[in-house]
Amino acid sequence: MEKRIRVLIAKPGLDGHDRGALVIAQALRDEGMEVIYTGLRQTPEQIVNSAIQEDVDVIGLSCLSGAHNELFPEVVRLLREKDAGDILVIGGGVIPDDDIPFLLERGIAKIFTPGTPTKETADFIRIEVQKKKGINVAPPEKLEHVGIAVKNLDEAISVYCYTLGFKLLGIETVESEGVKVAFLEMGESKIELLEPLSSESAIAKFIEKKGEGIHHLALKVNDIEERLDFLKKQGVKLIHEKPKQGAHGNQIAFLHPKSTGGVLLELCQTGHGEGKE
Ligand code: CO
Repeated sequence: MEKRIRVLIAKPGLDGHDRGALVIAQALRDEGMEVIYTGLRQTPEQIVNSAIQEDVDVIGLSCLSGAHNELFPEVVRLLREKDAGDILVIGGGVIPDDDIPFLLERGIAKIFTPGTPTKETADFIRIEVQKKKGINVAPPEKLEHVGIAVKNLDEAISVYCYTLGFKLLGIETVESEGVKVAFLEMGESKIELLEPLSSESAIAKFIEKKGEGIHHLALKVNDIEERLDFLKKQGVKLIHEKPKQGAHGNQIAFLHPKSTGGVLLELCQTGHGEGKE
């Protein structure tokens, strides 16, 4: 299991109200993080020492006294001085919008103004901590298939199989996609020929716009749901946020070409141990 994210919630300065800090501390605990609260009226020095001792990933500073412009940057400065500049610092409390650019420039990663949903704060922390640790994603297993949009499946099969020598694995109608598809074997990978069943099909629209040709690349993965969640959190535009049923009973989902260099990518998780691969 991955180590839980450790957060120090700290109240620098002289103000005596910590309801907001306690609320965020509890919310982050509910999100599965380990949260330590310093208590009121801490100096930047005390906060930085606690953070290092407790080996936290994140310091959340809350300040209502108006002294954030001195106190927050001082925390960042001391962390760097003590070789702990990799600890993420975020801030909240009563902070005028005009002060935010200054604080960001001084190394505070983000300022959460009152009313920010705590879920947003938690997601931000998760992504930033992951970025700092270095993202560790398994590569897709292989190029599962190349999808090619064709106007006439029979004609395309005849060229690919009888002239080019590909072996036809099967023909299938996928009603949900409005296509008839043929899978052709090619070593470890396949070619998927797609013919639109109606002018409403995405393949028909593709052919109308660009002509016949390569439509998508499908990558074989074995963690499609987790991977989609992860990609979403990383800001990748998804066409499908949850996997859906594709040909052969595979689970598939498409990523938006806007996020992937203009290429439509399909994630494809094949059926469980059918031995067809
Ligand atoms: Co496909």
